[in-house]
Amino acid sequence: MRNYEVGVLPGDGIGPEVTRAACRVVTAAAAGAGLRVRMTEHPAGSAVYRDTGTSMGEEVFAALGAADAVLLGAMGLPSIRRPDGTEEGPQVDLRDRFGLFASLRPCRRYPGVPSRVDAPDVDLLVVRETTEGLFAGRHDEVTPSAESSSDRMTITRATSELLFELCFAQARNRRDAGRSVGRVTLFDKANALRSQAFLRSVFLEVARRHADVQSECLHVDAGAMMLVTEPERFDVVVCENVFGDIVSEVAAGVVGGLGVAPSADVSLTRGVFQPSHGSAPDLAGRDVANPVAAVLSGAMMLRWLGERHADDRALAAARAVEAAVEAVLAGGPRTRDLGGSAGTGEVTAALEDAVTSRVAVRS
Ligand SMILES: NC(=O)c1ccc[n+]([C@@H]2O[C@H](COP(=O)([O-])OP(=O)(O)OC[C@H]3O[C@@H](n4cnc5c(N)ncnc54)[C@H](O)[C@@H]3O)[C@@H](O)[C@H]2O)c1
Repeated sequence: MRNYEVGVLPGDGIGPEVTRAACRVVTAAAAGAGLRVRMTEHPAGSAVYRDTGTSMGEEVFAALGAADAVLLGAMGLPSIRRPDGTEEGPQVDLRDRFGLFASLRPCRRYPGVPSRVDAPDVDLLVVRETTEGLFAGRHDEVTPSAESSSDRMTITRATSELLFELCFAQARNRRDAGRSVGRVTLFDKANALRSQAFLRSVFLEVARRHADVQSECLHVDAGAMMLVTEPERFDVVVCENVFGDIVSEVAAGVVGGLGVAPSADVSLTRGVFQPSHGSAPDLAGRDVANPVAAVLSGAMMLRWLGERHADDRALAAARAVEAAVEAVLAGGPRTRDLGGSAGTGEVTAALEDAVTSRVAVRS
């Protein structure tokens, strides 16, 4: 039997609540599938920064580097800021350290989940680049000024090619699984920004290598509007770092909100799995946060481990979590953001029960 070591970063705000839920459901699914997953918690985030002066210690980075995968809650508290006005972002540092160049953010409309957008068949994947773009100059030396400030947008061929190759592979897999037509759409600003025109030229080169998968380019402003007016036309949508941050939350809103939006930050060898949402300090400690996004992120972790290690047990555990989420979203209980009245704990218990009855054990 294969054992997996998972580094767990509960983080700030609702992070610990939803991470606890994800750990419980993943552990139940793993146990039912005959899989051993050892979870080890580590301190990181804004509260740790306030108390120690660093948001994630070197020993934590080292432990995470030795783990098979990382499960993260959420980091950041608006009340705790660095001298330049920004927040500590150890989850962003993790992307840099581990070369996690892509954040996969599936947005699917589940039966039972209300949305203001009348589009019941949305099933799309936003891929956000996560190491460069408008985040490229985060560590640039700057002279503080009371008159102006700027950030740098840098796009490299090496990262863009890796990103687009991953997108075409995802679109092909989704098409072959019968989920979509198989199309990658680049949202860019190639009409106005040099770096974005370069990004588009690399995209078109990579697209030519994958002629069996459809491809198109849209300006990000038009694309963002179409995500709301005709979301069912999209399959895989890929964007620069900040555009992807925004576009993925628009897509999450279309399918019912951040409470049902998971994500996976990946390189070719590493993965950090976390809900797309932040620390939601307005909800922290009140037993009202929706744990589904974190639980679905746990399912993405099990699926990623299963595919990476050709491990049928991990794939079975992933399927069990996904099926449990579908069942609980369809029949309840649901949290307040989805129109229900249940608490985080009640939904977590329902997910745990549902997963236990669904795991397909393969010996
Ligand atoms: N990856 C991360 O860790 C991450 C991502 C985004 C924001 N942040 C940080 O989180 C803090 C709050 O940021 P924000 O308010 O912009 O974004 P947020 O995602 O925390 O909250 C946005 C809105 O969504 C709601 N929401 C979020 N998660 C929910 C859940 N599970 N269930 C129900 N409702 C939920 C919140 O109540 C709020 O109304 C900031 O410090 C920010 O820097 C962290």
